[in-house]
Parts: sequence; structure tokens; C-alpha cells
Amino acid sequence: MTADQGIREIRDHWERQARLDPLWAILSDPTKKGRKWRAADFFETGRREISVLMFRLRVKGIPVARGQALDFGCGIGRLSQALAPHFDRVAGVDISETMIKLAGLANQYPEKVRYFRSEDENLALFGDAEFDFIYTNIVLQHIRPEIVRGYWVGFRRILKPGGLLIFQLPSHPRELKITDDEAGPMAPEAYAARISMGEIPAPLFAPSERITLEVRVRNASPRDWVRSEASPIRVANHWLSGDGRTMLVQDDGRADLPAVVKAGEECLVFLTITTPPEHGNYRWEVDLVHEMVAWFKERGSPTAQGEVQIRTSATPKPPSSTAGATDFLSPSAGPSSPEPEERGLDEKLYSALPREAGNPEDAPMFGIPRADVVDFFESRGDSVLQIDEDSHAGREWVGFRYYVRRAQES
Ligand SMILES: C[S@@+](CC[C@H](N)C(=O)[O-])C[C@H]1O[C@@H](n2cnc3c(N)ncnc32)[C@H](O)[C@@H]1O
Repeated sequence: MTADQGIREIRDHWERQARLDPLWAILSDPTKKGRKWRAADFFETGRREISVLMFRLRVKGIPVARGQALDFGCGIGRLSQALAPHFDRVAGVDISETMIKLAGLANQYPEKVRYFRSEDENLALFGDAEFDFIYTNIVLQHIRPEIVRGYWVGFRRILKPGGLLIFQLPSHPRELKITDDEAGPMAPEAYAARISMGEIPAPLFAPSERITLEVRVRNASPRDWVRSEASPIRVANHWLSGDGRTMLVQDDGRADLPAVVKAGEECLVFLTITTPPEHGNYRWEVDLVHEMVAWFKERGSPTAQGEVQIRTSATPKPPSSTAGATDFLSPSAGPSSPEPEERGLDEKLYSALPREAGNPEDAPMFGIPRADVVDFFESRGDSVLQIDEDSHAGREWVGFRYYVRRAQES
């Protein structure tokens, strides 16, 4: 297959999906199939993702210039919209005309965010060294490796020297026998976790403020935790009354664990929670949940808890580019309630779609070995600053997220 045929194949695939069920094609949550995603919930996932990303960059001491950002493979703008408060300007690029049309309808920052349709690996609609930051998530994994390499060349061209590129990709299939894909309980002894968190330096927050927590989870059981698509294990939190006796909010933040956490292993997860809307004293409680089965606490596993005060006088802290902050609990993108315009958006988006029947297809999955990814950038003088485990490609793949700093000169 030539590169042109490959690109046409991608474009036709995504255009079909965009016309059938665009939000589900982007985030394939089984409960949202059939145009069941609500726009407010969908865009909230983007705000949480970008909050966590910004928090990670701070914790890892990776500074980002806040000028121009590119969201490559932007879909309907879930991440472009969430990037807007952090950058002066954001460009979203997508191969599907319908995605771009919907992104325009959902654009709440028309003065900052612009959307473009492109199927060009070289991204010729942008000039050399235009961007400080390029982010792409759940896009490259569906593109043939030889075409991905073409896009990397394009990204390097449009990235400023010293600019930051962040992307995820599967590396290779996981060598693991996966037997349990039922939504049933695990063996009783598997529900044992140790959850640890750092200190809260100043536990005073504004109502409805979004906060990112750094959570270390040890699998303290004799069984490996292997993600089941039907009922994954996640880190999650509740809000309790100040005396800890009353459950006020059962379901708040959720964050995925890696696809596999072996017995005895520890992993680091970032969980974004949202403070209660009324002022007062509260306790947060972080636990693991085996979705649709049980909270680990119900099976005897200890949770982590702490106190916060919610005061209207505690204004949410603005997004910050400070590098190297190591506070455990760090406010991220400010208030979390959906923008008012988002409430009427479902009608606007879904009525813009054709009434086509049919089932969306899964996108194909491709991997590039981690060593080849690193070699591509390092052989051109760039620095691979950080590599995190990534599980967007599902548990059958070992995947990574790469943080690449473009060379100052090349
Ligand atoms: C799974 S969706 C992810 C959308 C968005 N990144 C998000 O996380 O909300 C993949 C998106 O990438 C777009 N895409 C795939 N290949 C592309 C390419 N070669 N150039 C631009 N966009 C592409 C698709 O049209 C689709 O909107």
C-alpha cells in the first residue's frame, strides 16, 4: 500500500465513524454507544486529561512555553478546548471533515482555538517552528508505522527548537495469557491494595475546584490485576462529611490503573477530583473500585483519607507553568463545572449528523517498538525527556507515552 492509499484509508475510516457516532468513536465507552455520550461529560474527560497532563509536567519538572499549541487528531476538540486555558492559541487538526465541523460547533474559545482539516503528513498548512507544544492522544496508534514516521518529520518541522512533543503509542503485544474478560468478581484475596499519598500543604480550596492528586497504589494481593475491559479496576474517590460519618458524594474522580499491575508491584496514578460545591469541612477518601463489582473497602482493603476546608474566599489557583513543583495536591485547571454553552450542545452536535444507521467499526491498531521511537528522535538530536507507561491501546499491548524536547539546533 502506498502512503497516499494509507492516508485515504484512514480518512475514509474516520469520516465514516464521525458520521455514525463521533463521540463514541473517540472514546469507546461501551455504555455510550449509539450517540449516548452527553457533550458536557465528554468535554469534562478532556479537562481532566489536560489537568493531569499539566500536573505531571510540573511534577516531572518539564517546563512548557505557553504560546502556541497543536492538538493533532483533535476529533471534535475534546482536548483542544481543554488546552485553551493553558495556551495563548490552540490549533486543532483532524483528517475528518465531519469531526472538524462538529469541533467548530463546540468551540467555546473562538478567539483562541482554530480548527483545520488536513491529511498532509508534512502539515504544510503550518509554517516552520510555529508551535511550542504538540499533543496527540489516541491518534497515532491507529496509523500505519511508515505514515507515523512521516508525521514525526512534520511535527519536528513545525515545532520550535526547544518545543515539546507528547504522544502515546503501543510498542509491542503483551506476552500475557488473558483469561478473565468477564464482569465478575476476582478471587477474594485479590482485593488487597495499599494506597499512599503525600501531604496536603494547605488544605483550603474553593467550591467545585478541580484538584489533581498523586496516588501510589501497591497491589498487596497474591494475584496479578489484569485489566478487564468489562469491569476495569480504577482509582476513585468519595467525599464524606467532615466527621467522616456520612457519604456525601459516592462517585467523583476516576483514573485508570495500568493494564497490568502484578502482585506486589506499585504504580503511580494521577487522580483528578472535584471539591464539593458548598463551603464547609469535608473528608476525601481514595479507594480502588472494581467497576460493576465492588469497592475494595467493602472487601476489607484500607483506603486513604484526609480533610479539606472549602471556602468561597479560596479562589481557584490559575494554571501554572512552574516547573518542579512537588506538592502532592496541586490545584490544576480551576473550576470544573461545564461551561454554560455546553449544556445545549448535545442537540447542536447530534442534529448536525446524518441519520445514518450502522455500527461503528473498531480502528486498526499499530505499534512501533519503544527503541525505534527513541532512536528516531535521539538520532536527530532531540531529547526524550520521559517515557511513561500508557494503556490506551488496551491490555493486549505494551504502550508508552513519550515526552520529546526538540533539539535547539538541527
Ligand atoms: C480516537 S480519536 C481521538 C480524538 C482526540 N485526540 C481526543 O482524544 O479526543 C482519533 C482522531 O484522530 C483523527 N485522525 C486519525 N488519523 C489522522 C491523521 N492522519 N491526521 C489528522 N487526524 C487524524 C480522527 O479523525 C479522529 O478524530
